[in-house]
Amino acid sequence: MRPPQTQRLLLLSSLVALASAQTTLIVPHTDGSDDVPALTALLSNTSNGPGSYTSEASIIFSANTTYNVWSPLVFPELNDVEVRIEGNLTYPENITLVQEYVGASNYMGAWITFTGGKNVTLSGSRDPTQGWMNGNGQLWWDIAQQTNRPYGWLFGNITGGVIRNLKVYKPIAWNFITTGSTDLLVYNNTILAGSSNASAYPFNTDGFVAQGNNQVYESNYVVNGDDCIRIADQSMNITWRNGYCEGSHGLSVGSLGASGADSMIMNVLFENSIMNHTLYAARFKSWTGGNGIAANITWRNVLFNDVMFPIYVTQNYWDQSLGPKPNASNVNETHISNLLFENFAGSVNDIPGYQDGSCVSDPCWYYVANATGKEVVIFDLYPGSATNVVAQNLFGTTVTGAPIAAMCNTSTISTEVGFVCQDGPYIPTSLGW
Ligand SMILES: *[C@@H]1O[C@H](CO)[C@@H](O)[C@H](O)[C@H]1NC(C)=O
Ligand SMILES: *[C@@H]1O[C@H](CO)[C@@H](O)[C@H](O)[C@H]1NC(C)=O
Ligand SMILES: *[C@@H]1O[C@H](CO)[C@@H](O)[C@H](O)[C@H]1NC(C)=O
Ligand SMILES: *[C@@H]1O[C@H](CO)[C@@H](O)[C@H](O)[C@H]1NC(C)=O
Ligand SMILES: *[C@@H]1O[C@H](CO)[C@@H](O)[C@H](O)[C@H]1NC(C)=O
Ligand SMILES: *[C@@H]1O[C@H](CO)[C@@H](O)[C@H](O)[C@H]1NC(C)=O
Ligand SMILES: *[C@@H]1O[C@H](CO)[C@@H](O)[C@H](O)[C@H]1NC(C)=O
Ligand SMILES: *[C@@H]1O[C@H](CO)[C@@H](O)[C@H](O)[C@H]1NC(C)=O
Ligand SMILES: *[C@@H]1O[C@H](CO)[C@@H](O)[C@H](O)[C@H]1NC(C)=O
Ligand SMILES: *[C@@H]1O[C@H](CO)[C@@H](O)[C@H](O)[C@H]1NC(C)=O
Ligand SMILES: *[C@@H]1O[C@H](CO)[C@@H](O)[C@H](O)[C@H]1NC(C)=O
Ligand SMILES: *[C@@H]1O[C@H](CO)[C@@H](O)[C@H](O)[C@H]1NC(C)=O
Repeated sequence: MRPPQTQRLLLLSSLVALASAQTTLIVPHTDGSDDVPALTALLSNTSNGPGSYTSEASIIFSANTTYNVWSPLVFPELNDVEVRIEGNLTYPENITLVQEYVGASNYMGAWITFTGGKNVTLSGSRDPTQGWMNGNGQLWWDIAQQTNRPYGWLFGNITGGVIRNLKVYKPIAWNFITTGSTDLLVYNNTILAGSSNASAYPFNTDGFVAQGNNQVYESNYVVNGDDCIRIADQSMNITWRNGYCEGSHGLSVGSLGASGADSMIMNVLFENSIMNHTLYAARFKSWTGGNGIAANITWRNVLFNDVMFPIYVTQNYWDQSLGPKPNASNVNETHISNLLFENFAGSVNDIPGYQDGSCVSDPCWYYVANATGKEVVIFDLYPGSATNVVAQNLFGTTVTGAPIAAMCNTSTISTEVGFVCQDGPYIPTSLGW
């Protein structure tokens, strides 16, 4: 149908209005000084009308430029904005300076913080040599400096967002966290947090911490020294797929119920992932004496190579450095139901004496009493609080060639687990095939 002339004109003028409403901000750069104050001033400048660069805008860090992010950068609420990192960004090399900002009372929680809004895209360069965030983390790792370390990126309180093509090189510690955000797509990001010094471990370099609702993580590549992705408390409908994780502590859910907290995690799917040379592949962790619920969590189609604990569930976590396990018989536990581990294949690292680089105490923080190192699955459950925790279709070998094993205690769960529930050989039951 042909619209009448006036309607076509109206349509045309609204298109023009839309086009002209899109503003572009090229982030200015000055060699040798902090680029954050100038950007912050521009973002808060409303002389061009409220929200000049904070709605319907593109904010561009130019290619072939190395920006000095020498103080924390806080984006105000953004609506319909794309932030494009075409050039490199770099943290200060001065550790004391970073620590002062992180320890300050007005610190917003990350070195780069997004404080809400809708339809926000954060993208990196497609050029592999550009668009890197350089954290200078090696300087911290080399001296085991762990005081007042920053999170990299807090993508907080955003409704409708994308994080894509970002690249992070040697972050100081944790990378991305998405607290309070909903409807996110996070894809094709790269995190390289491997240490160049075998005796300097990249502690707490978690890749992604998902916290919120309806978030999809796809095709991300992570080499690091802590969780590849961790689903944190108060999260629903989170998917991770087609990922690669190396050196990491796995595809994790938790920790839930610390200090009796009432936690909630529901509907989580991890699928099609490669776990290479990691401590865990799939992990669930809640604290002794916790509360709340974790339900409908599936890990499936996981290839694991050289992994110490391919599948590990504990409802009895406590800080082993603070003494013996507390007696939890009179308090609640985080209730877990419908946890499924399906289609896992690979090799268990059972090399005698081998330790993950994060092991700096005796026993290690990940020590499991009575484990042989050959377990492909460990279910450490709490009586009366776990139902339908199932492993199906597991195929494993050990690096030494010994048969694979399992740990499970029939007094802790009354539903079938998919294998003979015992501390001993791994023997799948009819449910487990
Ligand atoms: C704010 O923007 C106006 C218009 O572009 C410009 O004239 C003014 O110098 C800016 N103020 C600051 C503090 O950047
Ligand atoms: C960046 O520099 C390279 C090499 O000098 C050049 O080919 C390229 O066009 C530049 N890119 C931009 C966006 O300026
Ligand atoms: C989202 O924001 C971008 C600009 O970053 C804009 O082009 C696009 O139209 C917006 N989408 C919606 C659905 O408003
Ligand atoms: C590092 O930062 C601290 C704190 O701001 C400052 O006192 C010190 O002079 C800086 N060191 C160097 C080498 O710039
Ligand atoms: C997100 O919203 C909560 C609740 O209003 C607020 O406490 C928190 O500071 C916000 N986070 C960010 C990063 O803005
Ligand atoms: C993924 O990111 C890389 C750069 O890190 C880029 O070369 C590639 O084109 C991106 N892929 C897609 C599908 O966007
Ligand atoms: C950007 O940073 C990466 C990673 O540190 C580096 O390999 C690359 O050479 C840098 N690119 C430029 C243009 O400085
Ligand atoms: C989670 O997904 C379900 C099914 O798609 C939907 O009904 C529910 O509203 C979602 N939860 C949230 C908090 O968006
Ligand atoms: C697996 O990880 C090891 C150790 O980090 C590395 O040397 C190897 O290249 C990785 N394999 C693949 C296929 O990426
Ligand atoms: C778990 O998933 C099942 C099947 O999809 C659904 O019926 C049930 O409501 C879900 N439970 C929770 C707590 O979300
Ligand atoms: C245990 O959980 C029940 C039901 O959720 C709740 O009513 C009770 O307050 C909890 N007890 C403790 C000690 O947290
Ligand atoms: C370890 O095995 C010993 C001997 O079978 C048993 O007494 C002990 O309770 C086990 N410890 C744990 C934590 O399962």
